[in-house]
Amino acid sequence: MKKTIVTLMLIFLFSHTAIAQNENDPYLNSELSVNERVNDLLSRMTLREKVGQMNQRAGKKYFENVNDTVSHQMLNMLSDLKEGIVGSFLILSEIDESNKLQKIAENSRLKIPFLNAIDAIHGHGWAYGATIFPTSISQASAFNPAAVEKINAATAKEMRATGHHWAFFPYMSVTRDPRFGRVGENYGEDPLLVTRLSVAAIKGLQGDDYGAPDKVIACAKVFLGDGQSINGLNLAPMDISMRTLKEIFLPPAEGCVKAGVRTVMAAHNEINGVPAHADPWLLTELLRDEWGFEGYVISDWQDIERLNTGHRIVDNYKDGVEIAVSAGIDVHMFGDHFVDELVELVEEGKIPESRIDRAVRAILTDKFKMGLFENRYVDKEAAKKILANPEHVQLALETARESIVLLKNENNVLPLSKSLNKILVTGPLANDNALVGDWVHTQPDENIITILEGIEDHVGSELDVEYYNPGDIYDIDEKTISEAVKKSENVDAIVLVVGGNDNRSDKDWTLNPRRKNRTGGENIARADIVLAGMQDDLAKALYKTGKPVIVILINGRPLAVEWISENIPGIIEAWQPGMQGGNAVAEVLFGDYNPSGKLPMTFPRSVGHIPVFYNHRPSTFLRHYTDSKPGFLYEFGFGLSYTTFEYSNLSFTDKVTSGDDVEVKVTITNTGSYSGDEIVLVYLNDEISSVTTPVKKLVAFQRVSLKPDEAKTVTLSIPSIQLALYNREMKQVIEPGDFQVMVGGLIDKFEVVE
Ligand code: BGC
Repeated sequence: MKKTIVTLMLIFLFSHTAIAQNENDPYLNSELSVNERVNDLLSRMTLREKVGQMNQRAGKKYFENVNDTVSHQMLNMLSDLKEGIVGSFLILSEIDESNKLQKIAENSRLKIPFLNAIDAIHGHGWAYGATIFPTSISQASAFNPAAVEKINAATAKEMRATGHHWAFFPYMSVTRDPRFGRVGENYGEDPLLVTRLSVAAIKGLQGDDYGAPDKVIACAKVFLGDGQSINGLNLAPMDISMRTLKEIFLPPAEGCVKAGVRTVMAAHNEINGVPAHADPWLLTELLRDEWGFEGYVISDWQDIERLNTGHRIVDNYKDGVEIAVSAGIDVHMFGDHFVDELVELVEEGKIPESRIDRAVRAILTDKFKMGLFENRYVDKEAAKKILANPEHVQLALETARESIVLLKNENNVLPLSKSLNKILVTGPLANDNALVGDWVHTQPDENIITILEGIEDHVGSELDVEYYNPGDIYDIDEKTISEAVKKSENVDAIVLVVGGNDNRSDKDWTLNPRRKNRTGGENIARADIVLAGMQDDLAKALYKTGKPVIVILINGRPLAVEWISENIPGIIEAWQPGMQGGNAVAEVLFGDYNPSGKLPMTFPRSVGHIPVFYNHRPSTFLRHYTDSKPGFLYEFGFGLSYTTFEYSNLSFTDKVTSGDDVEVKVTITNTGSYSGDEIVLVYLNDEISSVTTPVKKLVAFQRVSLKPDEAKTVTLSIPSIQLALYNREMKQVIEPGDFQVMVGGLIDKFEVVE
């Protein structure tokens, strides 16, 4: 009897956790191949240790920083780490913390390092002193995939310098609702643009080999939806036809997978009644079986829990874990008890161990590939040299310039002349860090150039700049408005900076996701999209002074600024131009940079016009609202320049054999007096089709730089797939018939023949 007990104990000890690993174990030998090391390590792991690789925890500092006492979520974090059952962390924003936690991981039985994940959305914004690039919606206005790739390559470099390995980016949702708080994190409303920029971001982050010391793992999120929820709110259901899913929302996801994105994040939301986290069609059939994805899928924050607490499709957490893992979730983001529940589910035979092995194999592969067993710590001093280095800051400036969109320039009120005597710079966002957008933690104040600072630096002593702060967005009142009017008495022009604030750091740069004056960002949707507070009243009062008023918009979503657009002569959409935003805006304001951006998302006249997007079906506007002017405020693709461009010689073949790409040639001439970039947008319309198709859709684009009087002929290719539609049987086919091509005001057609 005693002997049996001893034997059982020995079996337990050997098969579970007690045996310390030997330095000579093959998986610790860096000379062996990644595969050999993974196989060896897997063979030594207990079930609990394997499941532990699927367990992602958040750091303690994060909760301290946001003043949150979610301490119950933290109870087991350290003990899990010591036990060797934490596969990855998220949001460890400080090097000291990640080094310390890596040390604890190294002292665990198998010494497995953790992957360190972070939301590096437009730069490595959670890190102190990082380069903060223009937000995604801003970057999208530049229609420049090469620049997006460079931004993300710089981001990857900064991430590795601070010990991070996994970026929760690109956010590849197509956004079709400006009420949504997260528009700024996305690339806009057009599937082609979103796909091309997301793929460029993946290239920048992962390179050809994400194991390289300056590359990281990318994560295509969110799969799928969230850009057109039923009410514009984060987490809310997507109720959407399969046709719209296939035409609009799936192509970017497929593009990311085909581009080799290593990880995918499931969406908070349900689609047509099935939560993404519980959808085997989405997470396995489509993603793996059809598209060939071989990486791993991470849940979004607390979304396995939410199958019970939010979606109500199960009545307890454990059933949620079973459904989610069976559907295809490989990593649980944040929280306790996942390991216990999943181990039990495997022991009960409800989830096969081979399913766990698949996930763990992929995760371990990455840790070996990235050399983390040999090199898991980073040096704080070395990191300082990489973060916001001059080359990256220069890139932040260049990309900010390209992202600015000139919306109105009546009587060439812009650019402003430096020979004016005095200007007034005012507005709640004139000297505010709102211009960095969401997902940016505390930064050194001197790193962020506000609009006021940019203008002051730019004009130096040439021009007198008066600044008046009318208060934060929601603090403007009659008193500050009349004060602003008073300040404008002796000036030649007024620069008014208004818009929204998505930045989750307070003015004094402490992190506070719930700061009171936010109007956008994660979980900050709006029921209206006019300017918040009394910003419009401020604009009206300043306009009444009769002085030329220039409005600069800082915002992360389209705004219904109808009055401003009808009355104010000069409007610059600066979006959220990042750390160098102030300099870029000043250059545009005074004509040292000719604006070239075009809108990646349509601006509606009011919230009542939503949903709104340019690629709508033909019958959408056969009738109009009785209480609104027809049309959009500004359509996708709109943007002015200080110069003028003329399009000519549009040419392509008359007849296209179904399945062939179409080459389009067009000449663009700079007919004005400024050098500048033009973004050539090629749209297509299938004239008569068996199911309805959009009045136009973007099928190709390219930036062209032209000096005054210069002409260039560009060739753009329309891939044959862009001619296809989903027929009534939902098969993707190209129907013979006429297709219109629209470029820069020119229209012509070709015929598709079988
Ligand atoms: C967001 C994700 C993000 C995650 C981690 C979630 O609330 O939806 O986009 O990656 O938090 O910060």
